[in-house]
Amino acid sequence: MRDPRPIGVFDSGIGGLTVAVAIRQALPAERLLYFGDQAHVPYGDRDDAQILAFSEAIAHWLLERGAKALVIACNTASAAALKPLRERLPHVPIVGMEPAVKPAVEHTRTGVVGVIATVATMQGAVFASIVERFAQGVTVLQQACPGLVRQIEAGELDTPRTEAMLRGWLEPMVDRGIDALVLGCTHYPLVRPLIERIVGPDVRVIDPAPAIARRLGQVLTEADLAAGEGAGGIEVYTSGDEPRLRAMLHRLGLGPWPVHGLQWTEGRLTPP
Ligand code: DGL
Repeated sequence: MRDPRPIGVFDSGIGGLTVAVAIRQALPAERLLYFGDQAHVPYGDRDDAQILAFSEAIAHWLLERGAKALVIACNTASAAALKPLRERLPHVPIVGMEPAVKPAVEHTRTGVVGVIATVATMQGAVFASIVERFAQGVTVLQQACPGLVRQIEAGELDTPRTEAMLRGWLEPMVDRGIDALVLGCTHYPLVRPLIERIVGPDVRVIDPAPAIARRLGQVLTEADLAAGEGAGGIEVYTSGDEPRLRAMLHRLGLGPWPVHGLQWTEGRLTPP
């Protein structure tokens, strides 16, 4: 059976669009409803309870709009909300992000890999358990990047300040011999060219988005929820500034996708 209902995808802002693009490439027949919670970005400085409350309200809004499955296209929200949301919504397939430590460990020849992520992701129990399960004797250097999501949301993708911040975090890792670097936040692929320039050609930069898109494809097929043939699409919603988001999509070469505004009213998403 073909299921034309959309897939709900969300993030704290524009980062999850890097995942949405990978999903569009892997599953072109699917329709995506994307929500960026730009009123509350960055999530990485917030506590788990607050991130879970936002994520749950967003999940409900997406389900009310007819979503057949959800993708938490945010490592920080996945760490705080994936498990509880799966428990609270047992009939909804939910795919989340996790830092791709395993492929980095499989790739390394130097025995040293790096992971960059938000403060909340790095401090969470999920990240600690991934390192414990997959490091297998490899040294995993962990670096939180406070402020980087803000720079990216402000469109500072290749400015001297963003470069200085990244150099401060990445150069010590390169000096310690990493040959793989995991992008543990879905915003970071938006500064991938700058990251690659800093770490150089000998460090493989790993973005888990294509793997997540493949995983979503498997989940939909197993649950008999795939859209099958046909042209899908993406509709974008934000709790922030619509014209700014439209301009950003244009700058990133994404779209033209319809962008709509939503607002938070007493903990729920409503039309403006
Ligand atoms: N894209 C989110 C992530 O993957 C950014 C979190 C934030 O808003 O700080 O972690």
